[in-house]
Amino acid sequence: MTTTHQSLQGRTALVTGATSGIGRAAANQLAREGAEVIVHGRDPQRGEDVVAEIVQAGGQAHFVAADLSDPTDVRRLADEAGAVDVLVNNAGFSWFGPTADLDVATYDALFDSNVRAPYFLVAALAPRMAANGGGSIINVASMAGSVGLAGAAAYGGTKATLAAMTRSWAAEFSPRGVRVNAVAPGPVYTAADPERIEALGATTPLGRAAQAEEIAQVITFLATPAAGYITGATIAADGGRTAV
Ligand SMILES: NC(=O)c1ccc[n+]([C@@H]2O[C@H](COP(=O)([O-])OP(=O)(O)OC[C@H]3O[C@@H](n4cnc5c(N)ncnc54)[C@H](OP(=O)(O)O)[C@@H]3O)[C@@H](O)[C@H]2O)c1
Repeated sequence: MTTTHQSLQGRTALVTGATSGIGRAAANQLAREGAEVIVHGRDPQRGEDVVAEIVQAGGQAHFVAADLSDPTDVRRLADEAGAVDVLVNNAGFSWFGPTADLDVATYDALFDSNVRAPYFLVAALAPRMAANGGGSIINVASMAGSVGLAGAAAYGGTKATLAAMTRSWAAEFSPRGVRVNAVAPGPVYTAADPERIEALGATTPLGRAAQAEEIAQVITFLATPAAGYITGATIAADGGRTAV
């Protein structure tokens, strides 16, 4: 390890959707902070690649595959994860397009992955965190949950719901030591649609999209004791897009 101060030493972190993009960057950063990371995703090869990346840097990680659109798999993931100290609900996907073009199956898939899965992971893991004296949950929302982006009604709806759940979970679990926060990224260069990301980035005060590592920094901060007085917050990491 190159980091000298490891504020998550001895802690376990489950990062959903850690095989790619923001989740992958967060898994790497949390491991550098000393956490043993459970790398989750669907693709075992990409999962093992991320585990290898972490181990090569001197960290600890293992991969658990689960399809979060399947409630049985969500339950199995929670059982296999056991008692975690940090949960990053990052896995999800977006759909942009005319409202009339969204079919029912895709609408349901958006809410299954982006809302139902985080809900039942929190239901399974937050009480265990509370019983162990506390923990930190970070939900990856989106600026699409608080500004009206044309074509993002359903996706934005999933992320606004996640931010609302974050506040309720803070009220429910923080009295027992579990901090619950959300990060709401603006456009981030990841796997999806670079042209749309570029165009959205140009509409922010900073005039650009983010790198995944810039969002992961916020997630990692919220996971650490340095964020000890923050709960129920949705932190905008959007280049100022929702501020002006
Ligand atoms: N990129 C942006 O501009 C942006 C902006 C705001 C918010 N966000 C949010 O940030 C989060 C991460 O986005 P990203 O851009 O980093 O995504 P990404 O690169 O496409 O990665 C998505 C990750 O989620 C996993 N995943 C998706 N659906 C899943 C399912 N049903 N079951 C299990 N795993 C699933 C994928 O796993 P496998 O590939 O292994 O299947 C992958 O690891 C998402 O919640 C997204 O909505 C992104």
